[in-house]
Amino acid sequence: MVKMVINPARRTGHICPEVQGHFAEHLGRCIYNGIYVGEKSHIPNVNGMRSDVVEALKEIHVPVLRWPGGCFADEYHWKDGIGPKEKRKRTINTHWGGEVEDNSFGTHEFMELCRQLGCKTYINGNLGSGTIEEMAQWVEYMTFEGHSSMADLRRENGRQEPWNVDYFGIGNENWGCGGNMRPEYYGDLYRQCQTFIRSYRRSHPVRKIACGANGEDYQWTEKVLETAFDHGYGYMNGLSLHFYTVPSGKWGRRGFALDFTEQQYYQTLREALKMEELILGHGAIMDRYDPEKKIGMIVDEWGTWFEAEPGTNPGFLFQQNTMRDALVAGIHLNIFNKHCDRVKMANLAQVVNVLQAVILTEGERMLKTPTWYVFHMYRYHQDGELLESFLETGETGMEDCRIPDMTESVSEDREGKIQITITNASLSESKAVEAALTGRRVKAVKGTALAADMGGHNTFDEPERVKEREYQADRIAGEEGKIFFTVPPCSVLHLEVETESTTDKE
Ligand code: AHR
Repeated sequence: MVKMVINPARRTGHICPEVQGHFAEHLGRCIYNGIYVGEKSHIPNVNGMRSDVVEALKEIHVPVLRWPGGCFADEYHWKDGIGPKEKRKRTINTHWGGEVEDNSFGTHEFMELCRQLGCKTYINGNLGSGTIEEMAQWVEYMTFEGHSSMADLRRENGRQEPWNVDYFGIGNENWGCGGNMRPEYYGDLYRQCQTFIRSYRRSHPVRKIACGANGEDYQWTEKVLETAFDHGYGYMNGLSLHFYTVPSGKWGRRGFALDFTEQQYYQTLREALKMEELILGHGAIMDRYDPEKKIGMIVDEWGTWFEAEPGTNPGFLFQQNTMRDALVAGIHLNIFNKHCDRVKMANLAQVVNVLQAVILTEGERMLKTPTWYVFHMYRYHQDGELLESFLETGETGMEDCRIPDMTESVSEDREGKIQITITNASLSESKAVEAALTGRRVKAVKGTALAADMGGHNTFDEPERVKEREYQADRIAGEEGKIFFTVPPCSVLHLEVETESTTDKE
């Protein structure tokens, strides 16, 4: 019997909803066809946004959306995407497949999408090929409420009121597609540029995100902070981190989303678990500059990256999504929760039809991937208080690839309910757990589980082959504050527990 201890008396941090954020880039069929089909499409839409996709995203309570890239952002000129659509410039999406971009989805459309989703906005500026003036004008265009040339241009284009820009990224991957810069150079450029990213309305400050490291490039974090960190905390609200899960840890051997071995399954999860090591490593550097943890670690690109689905354009990064992806998602979200003192936002790459998508579309058809279900189960953690918890994990895997078998995180929501999420990576063993909630009586438990073979996935013909199902605990010992339950192999589990304090009622 695996022992689990939850201590509701110790709240160890606040879980920002934004750690369950998403990312939408002008890449392949993410924006066009995946989200935006235009007002005239036969696919049901509201102001051009697919209604089925918007509904599915609302169900997982998308808290924030990052746009327009990615590497696309490093070449994006926002003025190409405003004004009458027929007059918008046709540009080339040089980074992703050389497609002609008609710019029919621009700033106004992104803001409309976020309105429909009811989510926060995260805009990524172009520090790669754009100018600081261009970036500053974009912020003015979006957020200035008075009369200025940019704000009036916004009005001419049909939007009277300013929008809220909750987060603004100053560059993307500037160590790579964003300009191949050295960290000292980027740090200086960041200092300069952030000066002109103004918060025009005190009630709605624009939080500035600096471009952080690629995986374990600790040197980048160190040098950028050394150059750009300001002890008054005025310069920077967040520092990003990008880390993709590739099965062998090597880009040359990524394998396919559907066709993989048990060994590749465990190797993939071993790579996913590295996220914790990276948070601790970069976090330790951040702690030296920012011991009060005011600067958020913003993991604004994470997820699996396999070879593109055979028969699809390799530049479109379209991949299917299985239980292996669901485990990767569950593991990451548990890690983000556990480190909510530092991790303030994370954005899965990417929301529709690209990499580890929560939704796939084909013409007018749409399916929810196993990863979507994980977000659906974990949404209860959003805005919760992390509780101290411990799970006695063992090991699973194969001879040359042993990994911890389970991960967990526990929070208390605003109504006082305890939310538990657990992953079991083992492909063969279910795990019987005895969970003890110290100082509490257990009144009721309900939950759902997502369990299937490692390759289990949904198709457009069978869109509900893998889905979350109702789950019952084996036994409750209410007075003792104990729950006994079994976690199936290759699964993700969510339990919601109603409790009362043992000192409240005798
Ligand atoms: O998400 C796909 C790409 O991965 C993004 O455009 C880029 O930032 C990263 O390298």
